[in-house]
Amino acid sequence: MSTDVSLANAPRHIIIGGGSGFIGSALTKALRARGDRVSWISRTPGPDRITWDELAENGLPVCDAVVNLAGQHILDIRRRWDDAYRDEVIRSRVDTTRTLVAALNKSPAPPAVFVSTAGKCFYGTKELDATEAHPELDEDSKPMGLDFPAELVGQWEAAADGIDADRIRHAKLRIGVVLGKVERKSDIGRLWQIGRARGFLPVIRLPFCLGLG
Ligand SMILES: NC(=O)c1ccc[n+]([C@@H]2O[C@H](COP(=O)([O-])OP(=O)(O)OC[C@H]3O[C@@H](n4cnc5c(N)ncnc54)[C@H](OP(=O)(O)O)[C@@H]3O)[C@@H](O)[C@H]2O)c1
Repeated sequence: MSTDVSLANAPRHIIIGGGSGFIGSALTKALRARGDRVSWISRTPGPDRITWDELAENGLPVCDAVVNLAGQHILDIRRRWDDAYRDEVIRSRVDTTRTLVAALNKSPAPPAVFVSTAGKCFYGTKELDATEAHPELDEDSKPMGLDFPAELVGQWEAAADGIDADRIRHAKLRIGVVLGKVERKSDIGRLWQIGRARGFLPVIRLPFCLGLG
């Protein structure tokens, strides 16, 4: 009993793909606050980071858990949602996930758990007529209709499903919309109540400010 408790409380090494992002940096802060060591897999080298190329070449460092949050933001107001952008968004998730899954599967001492993330867009969209009730959806539900986000999540999850689940427990998340606090760093920002928000908020803020929300 005492051994279990000390193991449960021991600091762990958690590796987060895309840990520099909006959700990843909040997760990192929470894990470090409880004493865990956190490393990121990133496109950019730096302290406590490995790059995707290093991961593919050298394999996965010893760790207790891996979380994957990497991916090009699905909505970028500077980019048109054309085929090239959609392909970039898909590749940024599917290719990184495949690289990570290959490294996990090859690891001689794999972590206890792989947490793959995707979005609730998995369920797709369907037009309902006025008499139809909203369907109840759960983990076992199939997509209601295939739009681009549903197709993206389907491909992303399929890449994550390549994990050797006999050796590594696979926890699959389908995240809903995550909103973040607006950071107001400058006096002007504080004065005008504007600032830098990350996640979904900056994307939807402008249409709402224009009364189109
Ligand atoms: N925020 C939401 O409301 C929400 C809702 C549902 C699902 N999700 C999903 O949850 C994940 C994390 O969300 P988030 O809001 O934290 O995302 P984020 O802030 O955009 O961060 C994602 C991270 O992925 C890496 N990345 C960006 N473009 C990439 C590319 N082309 N190739 C490889 N890596 C790339 C970046 O890390 P480096 O620069 O260090 O490489 C970035 O910090 C995303 O995959 C997102 O689809 C988010």
